[in-house]
Amino acid sequence: MFVIRGVGGVRRILVILFCILVPFSFIIFIRGGNNVSSPRQMITSRETVVFSKDGKPHSYDRSSPFIFIGGFPRSGTTLARAMLDAHSDIRCGEETRVVPRILQLAAQWNRSAKEVNRLHEAGLTDEIIGDAVASFILEVVVKHGEPAPRLCNKDPFTLKYGVYLLRLFPQAKFVFMIRDGRAVVHSLITRKVTVTGFDLTDYRQCLTKWSNSMKTMLRECNELGPERCLKVKYEDLVLHPKAQMARILEYLGLPWSEDVLHHENYINKPGGVSLSKAERSSDQVVKPVNIQALSKWVGAIPSDVVEDMSNVAPMLETLGYDPRANPPNYGVADPEVATNTNDIIEHHEEWNKHAESVLKHSKRKA
Ligand code: A3P
Repeated sequence: MFVIRGVGGVRRILVILFCILVPFSFIIFIRGGNNVSSPRQMITSRETVVFSKDGKPHSYDRSSPFIFIGGFPRSGTTLARAMLDAHSDIRCGEETRVVPRILQLAAQWNRSAKEVNRLHEAGLTDEIIGDAVASFILEVVVKHGEPAPRLCNKDPFTLKYGVYLLRLFPQAKFVFMIRDGRAVVHSLITRKVTVTGFDLTDYRQCLTKWSNSMKTMLRECNELGPERCLKVKYEDLVLHPKAQMARILEYLGLPWSEDVLHHENYINKPGGVSLSKAERSSDQVVKPVNIQALSKWVGAIPSDVVEDMSNVAPMLETLGYDPRANPPNYGVADPEVATNTNDIIEHHEEWNKHAESVLKHSKRKA
């Protein structure tokens, strides 16, 4: 018989309750919930420590509040990360390319019941795979750039796996960049940016595929909920950068900094905006925020596709873009943005030379 010596009536009951509830709640803590609002808590997280140039150690683990910027490529994802990179508390850095790939692979393993069964037979539980995938992502995100109080990753397609990512990194926050699909597809086609499965000779096919892909990302973002996933429209960001950046920083719980409105001053500077020559947006992002790219698509899309736009890309309407307006009224730019745009148009040659010279110096030394 279980006897607690020297403890009287009520206190004895309290002690017994304590003995039962504490281990029980510990099990709950380990197992975690399955829903998104109380993500599975991983206690097996390993710490990754890196040192800044001044020799200070910075440690990260799976409970670090990582920021993931996602969206369809050509939606201003690089601009958004560059503006955040200009904030002294944040480091995003270049696209890693491997983070969405490992997430895709993990999703593949989970898709087929046969494969899941084989893995389970081999002793590979979802938890073990989750631990391994999280460790991989943690190492990559932490070590491909300088340490900072808040680390961020911008690999556009990671948002397709947002709910899974939040399970791996329960304190993560997501920024979902959204842009008018007609501008996105025009950008892909004119700049010859390849995306698997997209036929760059066919506006209709690309718009349909963009719409399907956005449907997946919107579903993930909605499932994550407004506390975990913030939707930001490219058009709003470039027209009203101050209001949008204030909104983003507040959502991330970071103090306001004017630096985010002048990301172009921090390109390839220590603690600033590190750019890769290999990325397709680098020569655009060296410029200050401007509205040159807003309506470039108008007149470039075949008329049969324009007429059938609401059927071709139903997500346009869902995301608040009028599929019949060519272009929709995106709004009026803030005076600073209008000044930047005029300057870029007027000094076109100088800006292009500046972009070339900045990128020349962006190559990393081994
Ligand atoms: P266009 O190709 O239509 O010009 P992403 O980085 O997600 O691929 O998005 C690329 C788009 O962001 C490009 O659109 C590019 O012009 C735009 N962009 C990059 N830097 C910008 C800036 N400083 N101001 C406004 N738009 C910018």
